[in-house]
Amino acid sequence: MSDHELRVSKIRDGTVIDHVTAGQALNVLAVLGIDGDEGFGVSIGMNVPSDTLGRKDIVKVEGRELSQSEVDIISLLAPEATVNIVREFDVIEKNRVERPERVVGLLRCPNHNCITNADEPVVSTFRVVDDGVRCEYCGEIIRSEIGDHLAVN
Ligand code: CTP
Ligand code: ZN
Repeated sequence: MSDHELRVSKIRDGTVIDHVTAGQALNVLAVLGIDGDEGFGVSIGMNVPSDTLGRKDIVKVEGRELSQSEVDIISLLAPEATVNIVREFDVIEKNRVERPERVVGLLRCPNHNCITNADEPVVSTFRVVDDGVRCEYCGEIIRSEIGDHLAVN
């Protein structure tokens, strides 16, 4: 890639979440709980050209790695995402995200009558199914716009 095509600077240490489904970058930041007050350097590219995806988003977070549960939920927002760990400017690890079997505590059930929305000590749990994610408590299925149901929002 030539210099004039590089839209977002390389980072020294941290995580690059690449090949994010276009439109999902802000949801990825929400999953990471990043709103800018934490002091991490964060760069975002939105709707940048991609050979494989046509358009993609990209999120670069300096000085931060991701937990498995964060990667799990990102896999539902951005199934093609790659998570690159960068140290001293080199990509030392690159992983494709994988759909998890279950998502615990990261999504809010859209059913207002669900026990997970009552003031009870239960943690929301969704099973990942072919057409979305299904609440293990009430059976409600979230089929699209999973980012609208993040518990962190
Ligand atoms: N990257 C970065 N800072 C670095 C190294 C890499 O921001 N110090 C970014 C690159 O810009 C790219 C991603 O991390 O968006 C992955 O880097 P790399 O594996 O070098 O790029 P590609 O080979 O193009 O990745 P892929 O094959 O996954 O498309
Ligand atoms: Zn429910």
